[in-house]
Amino acid sequence: MGLPVVLMPGPMNPAVAEGLDGVCELVRLWESPEPDAVLAARRDEIVAVVTGGTRIDGAFLDRLPAVRIVCSFGVGYDQIDAAAAAERGVVVTNTPGVLDDEVADTALGLLLMTVRELPRAERFLRDGKWLNGSYPLTRATTHGRRMGILGLGRIGQAIADRVQPFGISVAYHNRRRKDVDYRYYPSLLEMAADVDTLMIVIPGGDSTRHLVDAEVLKALGPDGIVINVARGSVIDEQALVDALRTNAILGAGLDVFEHEPKVHPDLLTLPNAVLLPHVGSATIPTRTAMANLVIDNLRNWLTHGTPLTPVPESVPLVRGG
Ligand code: NAP
Ligand code: 8YV
Repeated sequence: MGLPVVLMPGPMNPAVAEGLDGVCELVRLWESPEPDAVLAARRDEIVAVVTGGTRIDGAFLDRLPAVRIVCSFGVGYDQIDAAAAAERGVVVTNTPGVLDDEVADTALGLLLMTVRELPRAERFLRDGKWLNGSYPLTRATTHGRRMGILGLGRIGQAIADRVQPFGISVAYHNRRRKDVDYRYYPSLLEMAADVDTLMIVIPGGDSTRHLVDAEVLKALGPDGIVINVARGSVIDEQALVDALRTNAILGAGLDVFEHEPKVHPDLLTLPNAVLLPHVGSATIPTRTAMANLVIDNLRNWLTHGTPLTPVPESVPLVRGG
């Protein structure tokens, strides 16, 4: 019997293909000049998909009736319709846990950069302006800030652990209260009104789209800082631009954008926005750990019939055998 046939629809971290060498036959769809013909020719052979960002919905899965698992690179899986997959008996896996520290470090860095205007200060030096005088004092300081975490999950907790030694207090809003000592707000709006720093780290997708809107930003107020390491879709980006332009909030630090890699042109010119190109988990050790978890999910499924880290929508399928 030949090796199981696995589809890779788009390019991924090279460690995934390296780790699957000899484990399966990998169909690299994006390399084919005729991807539709490849899907049609191999529709009854392809049993699994490994993916790093391609949109996968019910219609896509209907073209591949033998597929039983989609192993996704990344903890966020908003590009995959996991409910549609479950309806078709297809398990989806993601890569939780292995990137928490990296993303939390990025969030902390972004917070410091935004509050203390560090990118602007560095540009000031490089432009030779220091020769004519000191960089202006920043209005805000990091310590003593009141942070509201929107999404106190794995990464949110790692952020909470990091910011408290900075003298930053922590509150949170999730749909459900957790067994933690931080103050819980059942209402995002009420939390925004009580804090001066909104740390966004919830999943993206339709259920969280534009949760942070003009009203939430107004409630945060003129000392408010917004940090987003979640997904761009969570913020109404035009409302954020308006709030930054009118100084309704003090600043924003963003690792993610609504239409990335395109960035709202006004954000590019606003001095009170710090912008990173979605680098939350982007180190070689962490991306390799994510790739290894993709591989381990697939291997475990091929060998034992069970994946390691199914997403919540897939858990009933896994339990059912
Ligand atoms: P997680 O452990 O599942 O935590 C997500 C938290 O969000 C949970 O505590 C959940 O609590 C809360 N939540 C979910 N939906 C909500 C809603 N509608 N309203 C309020 N709270 C809600 O996930 P994680 O591993 O920390 O990752 C979080 C997200 O970070 C990922 O989904 C991904 O989009 C993003 N991320 C970005 C990068 C980057 O490079 N920038 C890297 C990794 C991850 P409840 O279920 O109680 O609501
Ligand atoms: C990656 C992420 O940038 O895990 C996530 O949800 O957003 C990041 O770790 C993403 O997986 C794209 O490679």
